[in-house]
Amino acid sequence: MELKKQVGYEAAKLVKDGDIVGLGTGSTTLHFIERLGERVKEEELDIMGVPTSYQSFFLARDLGIKITTLEENDVDLAVDGADEVDPDLNLIKGGGAAHTLEKIVDSSAARFVVVVDDSKLVDKLGKMPIPLEVMPAAYRVVSNRLRDMGGVPSIRMAERKDGPVITDNNNFLLEVAFKEIPDPKFLEKELNSIPGVIENGIFSGYVDEVLVGTQEGVKVLKK
Ligand code: A5P
Repeated sequence: MELKKQVGYEAAKLVKDGDIVGLGTGSTTLHFIERLGERVKEEELDIMGVPTSYQSFFLARDLGIKITTLEENDVDLAVDGADEVDPDLNLIKGGGAAHTLEKIVDSSAARFVVVVDDSKLVDKLGKMPIPLEVMPAAYRVVSNRLRDMGGVPSIRMAERKDGPVITDNNNFLLEVAFKEIPDPKFLEKELNSIPGVIENGIFSGYVDEVLVGTQEGVKVLKK
């Protein structure tokens, strides 16, 4: 079985009847949500999902998973993908520009489980630039601040639209590359302290477990 599917299906086994489930975004979580939809039908599970994007909202709705919000319920279990996972289980997320709502839902969950294939494991974060959701009016001044911090910022352009990516929250998506990230927690806070930055894609200290899809089966990483 494809590794992303294998690990997404494994995570779907963690959901219990009555759970409020955070529904992550991306191509790995997609398999989790699909299998969860099957379980809801097969086992008549009484669960509700809290989507982290329009992608996960549409998918869950189409599969018959009931939807709720953080205004109405606390999340028991959130399952989400990641772009990079370091040995301390810090993450970079936002490859799909959904990290703001993902961080709100995932960090609020009683249990946060990450699903990745083994290509996402890194010794140190920063192989990919860090995604930042930024208010359009702040694009230029935020870029200047990022350069002052030693970063190389760029704006993510859309592939099937002329112009920049517009997030689910109607903002721009900047990406900033640093030569190295010695302290992910410190950088996460520093980036969010720039006025105009809504949220950045470093997730430090939120993860309970990482399920890793490998050719030898699913491996579990815990802190
Ligand atoms: C969405 O913005 C991201 O945080 C995704 O969760 C992340 O990019 C992982 O996606 P894949 O499972 O598609 O690699």
